[in-house]
Amino acid sequence: MSKTKVICFANNKGGSGKSTTCSNVAYNLSQMGKRVLVIDGDMQLNLTLSFFPEDEALGFVQSGKNLYSAIKDQKSLADFIIPTAYENLDLIPSSTLMSSIEYELFTKWQREFILRKCLEPVKATGVYDYVLIDSPPTLGGWVMNIMCASDYLVVPVEASPWGLFGLANMFDFVAQVRSIAPTLQVLGIAITKADERKNYFRQTVEALQGYDNITLFENYIRIDSSIEWAQDNSKPVGAYKKSSRSAKEYLELTKEIMEHAGR
Ligand SMILES: Nc1ncnc2c1ncn2[C@@H]1O[C@H](COP(=O)(O)OP(=O)(O)OP(=O)(O)O)[C@@H](O)[C@H]1O
Ligand SMILES: [Mg+2]
Repeated sequence: MSKTKVICFANNKGGSGKSTTCSNVAYNLSQMGKRVLVIDGDMQLNLTLSFFPEDEALGFVQSGKNLYSAIKDQKSLADFIIPTAYENLDLIPSSTLMSSIEYELFTKWQREFILRKCLEPVKATGVYDYVLIDSPPTLGGWVMNIMCASDYLVVPVEASPWGLFGLANMFDFVAQVRSIAPTLQVLGIAITKADERKNYFRQTVEALQGYDNITLFENYIRIDSSIEWAQDNSKPVGAYKKSSRSAKEYLELTKEIMEHAGR
């Protein structure tokens, strides 16, 4: 059995911090000596842009060395891996063509499990300790593929007035996924873009603590402009400014995620 742990980051609410959390947790795990593959599952290319400048990200779209080509033709993801600038950290880039991935899936046999099947040869090599997958802000056949390919789900939630809206829909969706992929576990909820001075921060924490059987990670990420500067420079915040508050907070969150994932 493969020892690779697959963790996806999903929330149908846009801008909740999925890509930021996925990229920073991946970087931190790799800095701790874990071998990590990150997969960009979103046509917005935000995860790819977290590690590569725009011209290189668009180069992956044009060359066809991206997730869309692999899924469309049901090829092994092993042939689509790109090394990043960081040791122990590789990426499968996304493509703007991911906008039509639902159509591609539609006619395929066992269409909920295409990503899982394409990922299998990568897991079989035993090269990676972790595979982390970033999701688009939707709930549909493609996100179902992402969840069916994962052992664990991390849900980044923005501490904002609308941050919790739609979360119940997502957990209903997860229940549907678990009916066909019963091993998927919700690892926990991670609060992002927190501002402790605002009332709704407390409200968000209290509401999330009230979810039965779902862990709310103790470490949360506060609003920090270093995140945006880092992303503008195509770097994880830990690589851009290690001394920044968010770099330290993401490090603590990474350790907590690792503990919960059993390693
Ligand atoms: N802690 C933070 N402090 C300040 N800005 C942040 C923080 N976390 C994320 N952001 C910013 O918030 C925006 C949304 O974050 P991100 O792209 O990670 O969310 P997302 O859930 O992946 O969005 P989408 O649903 O569009 O994929 C980005 O512009 C990002 O720079
Ligand atoms: Mg995103």
